[in-house]
Amino acid sequence: MSRTLVKDALNAAGPQDSILLQGWVRTRRDAKAFSFIELNDGSCLKGIQVIANATLPNYPTEIAKAHTGASISVLGKLVPSQGQGQQWEVVADSLTVVGEADATYPLQKKGHTLEFLREIAHLRPRSNLFGAVFRVRSRLAYAIHQFFQHKGFAYVHTPIITASDCEGAGELFRVTTLDPSHPPTTEAGDVDFKKDFFAKKAYLTVSGQLEAETFACALSNVYTFGPTFRAENSNTSRHAAEFWMIEPEMAFCNLEGDMDLAEEFVKYLIRDAQEHCAADLEFCSKFVDKELLTRLDFVLQRPFQRCSYTEAIEIINKSGKTWEHPVQWGDNLQSEHERFLAEEHFKCPVTVYNYPRTLKPFYMRVNDDGKTVCAMDLLVPGIGEIIGGSQREERLEVLRENMAHHKLNEKDYWWYVDLRRYGTVPHAGFGLGFERMLMFVTGVGNIRDVIPFARTPGTAEF
Ligand code: 4AD
Ligand code: MG
Repeated sequence: MSRTLVKDALNAAGPQDSILLQGWVRTRRDAKAFSFIELNDGSCLKGIQVIANATLPNYPTEIAKAHTGASISVLGKLVPSQGQGQQWEVVADSLTVVGEADATYPLQKKGHTLEFLREIAHLRPRSNLFGAVFRVRSRLAYAIHQFFQHKGFAYVHTPIITASDCEGAGELFRVTTLDPSHPPTTEAGDVDFKKDFFAKKAYLTVSGQLEAETFACALSNVYTFGPTFRAENSNTSRHAAEFWMIEPEMAFCNLEGDMDLAEEFVKYLIRDAQEHCAADLEFCSKFVDKELLTRLDFVLQRPFQRCSYTEAIEIINKSGKTWEHPVQWGDNLQSEHERFLAEEHFKCPVTVYNYPRTLKPFYMRVNDDGKTVCAMDLLVPGIGEIIGGSQREERLEVLRENMAHHKLNEKDYWWYVDLRRYGTVPHAGFGLGFERMLMFVTGVGNIRDVIPFARTPGTAEF
């Protein structure tokens, strides 16, 4: 007999004479003649109630001893439930304990702090909250492919190991097979990376954008969706050393088209989660962020606001607020400013565009004013930046100038520059941080709690 998932059992159209359910014991309550067991298999938030009669042969030896956390296999009948809040329950014909869990099982019924659960990241998916978060994560990963595939975008697998630093921020993890205690050296005494595995310095990618651009200049509309790595030593609730990023790239597209796509994409993902993860989002709204559901509805109802960087600086400085980091034109917006714009000023997601050239990487298209570039950041309430993107510099000479400004060696990027030599086109794209999007959709406040096994400074357990 094949296994039925709890999700399907709870949605059954009618009673069933024989059903096989397998999962883990959440709770067991004993009455005189039977036990109530709540069985959860992670297929949905809810568990199903199993009734095990004391007349079952292994009742005293096995069933009445099954603790929270034990795995069980139940063969029984699906019948209408007398209890509240559930339509169906299972009366067991047989119940076997597959794997016992003793009283040291850390996920007992009482609520645990997120910090504690992080330390048991191997068990936390069995809790309600993390089950919900990771089901939403899985669903949205699927929705991302659906969104782009329906639009005719081709999925490109950009490399994980690369020799280029796309963002130019120097936050790279080195990839090497050299012996750190005896590296080969040049005559000048430097480490000789020519003798390294790739015969040059290599790193884990910080972004698939540069390679995605090559494919956009061939297949027109493409996207990447993969892990990216940043050796950013910032211990914040929004930064991880390993995170997943979605990067669409479109040929014959300008900044306006880029901002339009970003808005459509974010709204699509929110709608998809509302539609397919309703119970999980409701749970998050109840236990994580009371405002979640209303906020998501609200975000869908209105067009996102747009404002230039120059306007943003004016708004910030006219606000009359005191800032931990005062800003003037030319400074990076800090998290406090980003959140002020989205949460207090616009009270909705806002796309800030046309940033000072000096703040942004070499590949962004220079505006006619010579001072700003066609950059955009999408800022959302509660988090700040979730998307960074731009129109790319398609003019060969301007790109070369930019590279010189950023002290990049053109020879290292010869293939990237070639795109501007052969059939160059205006093109644009952006990167959505998948974990930040998940934080936005679930209301979870720390990036460590929306990725299965977080990698942050000082932490690579599991
Ligand atoms: O703004 P970023 O650095 O942009 C790029 O990497 C571009 N190459 C994207 C492109 O145009 N194709 O990063 C994009 C997004 C950020 O908005 C943020 O959501 C996320 O990636 N991100 C991080 N998420 C978690 N931890 C980190 N350390 C992150 N750094 C960036
Ligand atoms: Mg950015």
